[in-house]
Amino acid sequence: MNITTEKTLADLVRADFPILQEKVNGKPLVYLDNAATSQKPVAVLNALRDYYEHYNSNVHRGAHTLSTKATDAYEGAREKIAKFINAASHQEIVYTRNASEAINLVAYAWGLNNLQTGDEIILSVMEHHSNLVPWQLIAKTTGAVLKFVELTESEEFNLEQFKELISDQTKLVALVYVSNTLGCINPVKEISAIARSYGAKVLIDACQAAPHLPLDVQNIDCDWLVASGHKMCAPTGIGFLYGKLSLLRSMPPFMGGGEMIADVFLDKSTYADLPHKFEAGTPAIAEAIALGVAVDYLSNIGMEKIHAYEEELTAYLFAQLQQVPTIRIYGPTPSQGRAALAAFTAGEVHPHDLSTILDQAGIAIRAGHHCTQPLHRYLGAQSTARTSLYFYNTREEIDLFIASLKEAVEFFGSIF
Ligand code: ALA
Repeated sequence: MNITTEKTLADLVRADFPILQEKVNGKPLVYLDNAATSQKPVAVLNALRDYYEHYNSNVHRGAHTLSTKATDAYEGAREKIAKFINAASHQEIVYTRNASEAINLVAYAWGLNNLQTGDEIILSVMEHHSNLVPWQLIAKTTGAVLKFVELTESEEFNLEQFKELISDQTKLVALVYVSNTLGCINPVKEISAIARSYGAKVLIDACQAAPHLPLDVQNIDCDWLVASGHKMCAPTGIGFLYGKLSLLRSMPPFMGGGEMIADVFLDKSTYADLPHKFEAGTPAIAEAIALGVAVDYLSNIGMEKIHAYEEELTAYLFAQLQQVPTIRIYGPTPSQGRAALAAFTAGEVHPHDLSTILDQAGIAIRAGHHCTQPLHRYLGAQSTARTSLYFYNTREEIDLFIASLKEAVEFFGSIF
């Protein structure tokens, strides 16, 4: 595609995102913190407003018109999500507050009941805290042992080491699909097949994959997959757990309360069918409906198209970043295949200082450990700066970022 004469994907969609017209510190906003949370298109904002203005009502509880409409929209969104990730049934989609809650659901409902002393859980050193801490808690209670896959020289998942680590003791492999810090895209289908040959279960953290790549849970053949809505154009407070139907059926409830029951007696209860067994209490109705609208929005553009455009942007970002003196980018190069983000350091300059200076120019990037503290320790970096792109970002925004970054690096270089 000749990017200078033809409209890019970003050109076509930017008007859908009102926040991109904002000024920050007197400058047009350049939002490059999409791995932390994405912006929301008008269709999603309207869905929230429409629900509260026209059919705000509880779901599954009333036979009145508003409740029926809310229930249809809420369950309709579940079907859209199932289709989006190619789940075999909408009953395999459990709404959660976010991916962390989804992982905790699996950890407590499955882990606590199926793991025992000496069983092994394989994780990797690149996991987000949300795919580490729940397993630490479960390992402590059950006596299970945590094992960690390290990185290759190119700072990717070490598949060879994984093959050495896995054994008949392995009961679970829980792994991030796309690292929010390294940007590497892990070979989850291959990993899943290997795990399965040892009889181990597989959980995939798809938080940074669902917004950017086409997902197919049947093709990956994982047991569970989790994602957060707010990183894929939906509101905060809504995410989902995908689980294979038979496995979800075998898991006891995670939380008790209204909505998840069939019959309640004073001393015992029976539980609702899937997926409601795992959805205690009044759910985030508007947010779930809006997640369905976000999924429609992404699907209408096409995940292949989003991924292809982001690959172009990533190559451009890297080519520019590599020209900034002292920059060290973590993770594989774009030619090795990677996601549209770059965590980096600039010599001795503190990433928070970089982020603060860029903010003065209206440019939002993240600085810190990005909820991957063990990975940062492994890499020998206390913190990094991170630029993360989405399909509404442009080359012009990358140019503005690079110009401000160069100025900041030169400025701090003259001090140190
Ligand atoms: N986990 C999110 C990030 O990577 C918040 O920034």
